[in-house]
Amino acid sequence: MTHYDGGDSGTERLDTQHKGQELRFTIIPPQDVNAVSAGQLAALHEKNFPDYYLTQLGTPLLTSFYLHFLSHPNNLCVIATGASGVDGLALFVDDYDTQMAAFYRKYWRSLVVGILRGFLRHPARVLVGTFKRVAGLFSHDSVIVPNLPRVTLLSIVVESSIRGKGLGRELVQTGTAALSARGVSTYYLSVVATNTAAIAFYEKIGLAIVSQTGRKVLMVGTTDED
Ligand SMILES: CC(C)(COP(=O)(O)OP(=O)(O)OC[C@H]1O[C@@H](n2cnc3c(N)ncnc32)[C@H](O)[C@@H]1OP(=O)(O)O)[C@@H](O)C(=O)NCCC(=O)NCCS
Repeated sequence: MTHYDGGDSGTERLDTQHKGQELRFTIIPPQDVNAVSAGQLAALHEKNFPDYYLTQLGTPLLTSFYLHFLSHPNNLCVIATGASGVDGLALFVDDYDTQMAAFYRKYWRSLVVGILRGFLRHPARVLVGTFKRVAGLFSHDSVIVPNLPRVTLLSIVVESSIRGKGLGRELVQTGTAALSARGVSTYYLSVVATNTAAIAFYEKIGLAIVSQTGRKVLMVGTTDED
């Protein structure tokens, strides 16, 4: 069940009994974002994506990443908070390429430091990850799928101990309901082909694969209630 109570600052909140567990679903207003809230999400990301490239580059850069995307007024981040803190997040981003380029411009020094630090800890992984991203700047995936929606689901994660209880679905649905209210009807995401669990989850909640190029699968979903 979805219910927004609104608020003076436009904050949208949803409280729900979630299969016996009290969880609060909150859409973080950009003006409330600070290093602490970004740090909490970075910590959840680090814990649940230990092998991801960005995680290898260290906590300060990851925190800057969340700070950057959470602060943008067109983005939308839903978090689920339980007794032990943040249990899940879904971050929707508008015009990802432009915002990512702005991130690189703003944080290029931290990025260089992160790559150097990460290289000392995990040389092979960081070298390969950096190479892939630089090579990706010159690839032409967008030619293969020319009409992707503007909004992307950039990050979704549910604390490992409470997966499979409907929390991921509810995070996405809370986000898509709010996007729909903003006039956004579709969104896309990119997932590595080896993450078959996530692809199965996305298909279950209604997204469809629109393209697979090498290691990357692109999927599209609608914001309609199902
Ligand atoms: C992907 C993820 C967010 C799903 O969250 P979740 O809370 O476990 O998912 P839900 O319980 O809401 O599941 C919704 C539906 O997807 C299905 N599903 C979830 N995980 C699945 C899996 N591993 N394999 C097959 N189906 C799965 C559920 O069975 C459910 O279907 P149903 O409603 O028909 O029963 C969570 O597993 C996660 O955080 N994974 C690690 C991070 C990650 O890989 N993120 C994606 C990066 S692109």
